[in-house]
Amino acid sequence: MEWERLKGTGDRIPKLGIGTYRMEENPQAAIEAIRLAVDLGMGLIDTAEMYGWGRVERIVGEALRPFDREEYFVVTKVWSTNLSRRALLRAAQGSLERLGVGYIDLYLVHWPNPEVPIEETIRAMEELVVEGKVRNIGVSNFDLPLLKRAMEATREVEIAANQVRYSLIDRRIERDLLPFCQREGVLILAYTPLEKGRLAVDPPRALAEVARAVGRTPAQVALNWLISKPKVAAIPKAARVEHVRENSGALGWRLTQEQLLALNQISRP
Ligand SMILES: NC(=O)c1ccc[n+]([C@@H]2O[C@H](COP(=O)([O-])OP(=O)(O)OC[C@H]3O[C@@H](n4cnc5c(N)ncnc54)[C@H](OP(=O)(O)O)[C@@H]3O)[C@@H](O)[C@H]2O)c1
Repeated sequence: MEWERLKGTGDRIPKLGIGTYRMEENPQAAIEAIRLAVDLGMGLIDTAEMYGWGRVERIVGEALRPFDREEYFVVTKVWSTNLSRRALLRAAQGSLERLGVGYIDLYLVHWPNPEVPIEETIRAMEELVVEGKVRNIGVSNFDLPLLKRAMEATREVEIAANQVRYSLIDRRIERDLLPFCQREGVLILAYTPLEKGRLAVDPPRALAEVARAVGRTPAQVALNWLISKPKVAAIPKAARVEHVRENSGALGWRLTQEQLLALNQISRP
């Protein structure tokens, strides 16, 4: 399995996982997809209280029940209207109960909310760590100034991750956020890594060519391009087991320098 170590605790997090947005649409398929992901070394499960307003967390909990706790790493997020101390502590309790776990591996602020000082939110998240309900904390959709503010607000634990959009054709974070995070050891959790499936089914020419040359599919190459970078993990959503199996083929190999250069021509940072 390929993994990164998280800043602060040093916990291991798989480099490739599975996203669960809209998985409430077909719970049985979702459960099979999540279980297969864990079996294939993609035991990083990304969810959120907002996904189906709790329904997806329940599905994730059901999917993970047969596994030992150390076999998977579960990430969930608190919605932006629940960032006051009181609301956040209540939201975390709800997530724990729906997921059916004793602790959340990584708890993220889903989106910033300018109406609640980030210091209050971070303090509440630190309380959860001290109580053992959360192992690691982080943020999502935070630009560089906001991330720095969140990092400055910590007292007891580190900001371990920032979940942001990142793919072969959306490379905005390479301008400032990615280099900063790599320097500081903050994990980037890349969401929408397949551009909602578009990179898999209608790949840009250079992606199709590299895929043919390495004997892999465009989805596998697009995901490999992400996870070959230090401090980057990816969470493609796949509700179909064929897709989960295909995506797991992004693990365990590397592109050459020339192939990386060809892929970097597809879009500009
Ligand atoms: N923090 C945030 O604000 C935020 C925002 C967006 C997303 N996310 C997280 O990131 C996850 C992934 O992002 P996303 O769902 O936006 O987009 P994505 O992972 O880029 O794409 C998902 C789509 O690609 C399809 N797909 C997956 N593997 C495929 C393959 N090998 N071949 C063909 N199609 C394939 C899926 O189909 P099937 O489902 O039918 O298999 C699904 O329709 C989300 O589920 C969520 O957990 C977080």
